[in-house]
Amino acid sequence: MKHIDIKEVFADKALVGTKVTVCGWVRTARDSKNVAFIELNDGTTLKHIQIVVDKASGVAYEDALKLGSSLKVEGTVVEGRNEIPEINAESITVIGTCPAEYPLQKKRHTLEFLRTMPHLRGRTNTFNAVMRVRSVLAQAIHNYFKSKNFVYVNTPLITGSDCEGAGEMFQVTTIGYNTEYKNEQEYYENDFFGKKAGLSVSGQLEGEMAAMAMGKIYTFGPSFRAENSNTPKHLAEFWHVEPEIAFAELPEVIETAEDMVKHVIRTLLDTCPNEMKFFDEHFEKGLIDRLEDLISHDFGVVTYTEAIKLLKESGENFVYPVEWGCDLQTEHERYISEKVFKKAVFVTDYPKEIKSFYMKQNPDGKTVAAVDLLVPGVGEIIGGSEREADYDKLVATMQERGMNLDLYTDYLELRKYGSVPHGGFGLGFERLIMYVTGMQNIRDVILFPRTVGSIR
Ligand code: 4AD
Repeated sequence: MKHIDIKEVFADKALVGTKVTVCGWVRTARDSKNVAFIELNDGTTLKHIQIVVDKASGVAYEDALKLGSSLKVEGTVVEGRNEIPEINAESITVIGTCPAEYPLQKKRHTLEFLRTMPHLRGRTNTFNAVMRVRSVLAQAIHNYFKSKNFVYVNTPLITGSDCEGAGEMFQVTTIGYNTEYKNEQEYYENDFFGKKAGLSVSGQLEGEMAAMAMGKIYTFGPSFRAENSNTPKHLAEFWHVEPEIAFAELPEVIETAEDMVKHVIRTLLDTCPNEMKFFDEHFEKGLIDRLEDLISHDFGVVTYTEAIKLLKESGENFVYPVEWGCDLQTEHERYISEKVFKKAVFVTDYPKEIKSFYMKQNPDGKTVAAVDLLVPGVGEIIGGSEREADYDKLVATMQERGMNLDLYTDYLELRKYGSVPHGGFGLGFERLIMYVTGMQNIRDVILFPRTVGSIR
């Protein structure tokens, strides 16, 4: 008989009294005098189904009690205590045995310990819940943009230009260790693409090109950063959601970001009540209330200049001193969102020196039309801006920064052929997941984290 998802056994009351086949891994097992109980989980739901073996029935069960073993169970669905479905086993097949040294024992393991076994940790309640939340959020993001007429585009992962201009690109090369080339130029000329290539830090530049044709687009794919940041919120490979909107100025970019964040959190709360209850109980007390509160209020908006003033007047002893012109550190971001606004807050109009070359230059000559969204607990989850649409101003900034204009000819041509005001933002997908689950470390919200000094 074809097996059905354990999730369906819980959801479909009509199955009570019928015969089903389920498959899964043993989470716990108990052997009492007349009956044996097995809690089976197949990953389709947080809940384990209880398999009841009546020892008098003659069903062979002894080999099926080992933690981690995979089983196929045929039996009848019955209502157990509190009307919760269980399965009275009629036959049990051990598909894969599991020895006693199976690392995921019944006790609660630390997240650090689980990080050492990314291939197994998906079988714990925590990662089961994280991965389901991740999947639901991804779908909610696609649905949001679809409902607003955005076109989903796929931008290249291998690129010849550094979007953020911050020199954090991983190099892509087919030439291994080699000393036969006289200089860098000769080396790159002989490489696969005939010039230097890297993994994209952002799909924005190509996203802008697509928006200049399709009006409203978004990308949702991996971005790569070779930054040496061994922090709880940095990955070398993270998933990046990047909408780009033609004919939009900064306020519309901000409005879209707020609307999208609220939409996906509402969807999550409605779709994953069990998972969210789990995170509320085990990782952050009051999480659900905090998220309900977040989406029922307008997000705050403050300029960078005002934020600096607030930080200076705070009387706080920050590790990184605050001066106009400094980059905001996580401690500053958290202070602004947690202590001052007590909610999500957009910080706008940053000094041009600390932001990327493509941002629209404000009339004050000092700041650019940038925006970051800061949330309590995590800090920045979104970075975006209105883009500089004026060819001459953009070229001047790139020259000031010593950039090689030849690498950006396509991008610059957009400003020649029917240039329009436009803007967009990048949402760090894992940062969003951290925020909505209360998980404190970004390594715990992605299947296989890639971080400085660590890959497997
Ligand atoms: O602020 P960032 O660098 O902006 C851009 O890349 C723009 N091109 C986006 C755009 O306007 N289309 O990155 C955007 C977001 C950050 O706010 C953060 O959430 C996430 O990407 N991010 C990271 N997440 C995990 N690990 C890292 N190393 C990250 N770097 C950025």
